[in-house]
Amino acid sequence: MNYSENILGTIGNTPLVKLNKVVAGVDALVLAKVETFNPGNSVKDRMAVKMIQDAEADGRLQPGGTIIEGTSGNTGMGLALAAIVKGYKLICVISDKQSKEKMDILRAVGAKVVVCPTDVEPTDPRSYYSVSKRLAKETPNSWYVNQYDNPSNAIAHYEQTGPEIWEQTQGKITHFVVGVGTGGTISGVAKYLKEKNPNIKIWGIDTYGSVFKKYHETGIFDENEIYSYITEGIGEDILPKNVDFSLIDGFTKVTDKDAAVYTRKIALEEGIFVGNSAGAAVKGLLQLKDHFKPEDVVVVLFHDSGSRYVGKMFNDDWMRERGFLEEEITKAEDVIKDHLDKSLIIARTEELVSHAIERMRKYKISQIPVVDVNGFVGSVDESLLFQSYINDKNSAERPLREIMGAPYPIVAMGTPIEEVSKLFTRENAAVLIDLGNGKHHIITKYDIIGSIK
Ligand SMILES: Cc1ncc(COP(=O)(O)O)c(C=O)c1O
Repeated sequence: MNYSENILGTIGNTPLVKLNKVVAGVDALVLAKVETFNPGNSVKDRMAVKMIQDAEADGRLQPGGTIIEGTSGNTGMGLALAAIVKGYKLICVISDKQSKEKMDILRAVGAKVVVCPTDVEPTDPRSYYSVSKRLAKETPNSWYVNQYDNPSNAIAHYEQTGPEIWEQTQGKITHFVVGVGTGGTISGVAKYLKEKNPNIKIWGIDTYGSVFKKYHETGIFDENEIYSYITEGIGEDILPKNVDFSLIDGFTKVTDKDAAVYTRKIALEEGIFVGNSAGAAVKGLLQLKDHFKPEDVVVVLFHDSGSRYVGKMFNDDWMRERGFLEEEITKAEDVIKDHLDKSLIIARTEELVSHAIERMRKYKISQIPVVDVNGFVGSVDESLLFQSYINDKNSAERPLREIMGAPYPIVAMGTPIEEVSKLFTRENAAVLIDLGNGKHHIITKYDIIGSIK
């Protein structure tokens, strides 16, 4: 019989898979170390168990104790599996930037989840660094894991991930490319590989909004490099002790949009359903392609599973709202497809100016088409209402018919976007689109501006 004593025995020995289409144009063999095969669906299972074992060994973690960690989800999952098997309680402190799925998954495996704001300084008492430390002080028989500075994190990768990659490539690996968060993965793997062959090059993938690249290149911790970003799992606004900059040959930064787009490409072009930092890593690898020769063996590590991003990078609406979907906008109907579900707000000629103002406030809109029994006969917008107020302080009680401007032009769904744009003038703030069956929708200047990529 061949079985594991418990789920922890299934961690590691993940496959190495050749990438094909998504790295077209890279003149080297590119292999992905797919860490979603771990039971918690991420590479973090490895270090979570190692950190617990080391804390048990030196008494930091006592029987029946509470494990506390600030985690974006994956480390929490690994800790949760180990906590269940080994009989500990677990509190995960998580930032509100993280996907709801990640929080629900942690709760599913018994963790208590505490959510903290993302956009505060690490030293702010509300930050997840500060809250984790405070909870650790306040909770009896607890142990604060601190994956950022805990050396067992990198050691796990030195003992497992590095040797696996070396053996799977039969020592032929020439480059290792990986996203950097706590630094545990890159530093542990890099240390092992460079001990085996100091010529192996180690590339870290960073995000815009993170300090790593500049710090590596200049030794300067530049606070101007810090701003909020969307990419999950990589980049930092601190320098974790687990990032050993001396082992890293270089960093490349990948934009939020590219990371999101490439996360989808890996699934669609390779059939490998992995997370956002994998998208960043593949795009970063493409940015580095001039560093590789045809005989090189480049290994890229995919940290976690795509299932944690179904409400984000794998959701069309989420992508579209951020301008990440590379859709072609050529016709009038393309511009309004995001808000087709919303009904057209209108006003009637006999309604008062005050009614139109109230409606604009309620729906947060700047213009309204005006109708009577014959259809669209006029329009009101903010500047027209303002002008009528200047002319007559009692204008609020006047019917719209007395002050309204010309009706908005009406276009067909297939009208080219260039034609639609020409209809916007100083006097004309919107265009109506005929959806058929007597239905219409509105295209505003903002819709046109928003469609420019
Ligand atoms: C999805 C994901 N990618 C990448 C990383 C970065 O890995 P490391 O912390 O080992 O640098 C993490 C770590 O939190 C992660 O959760």
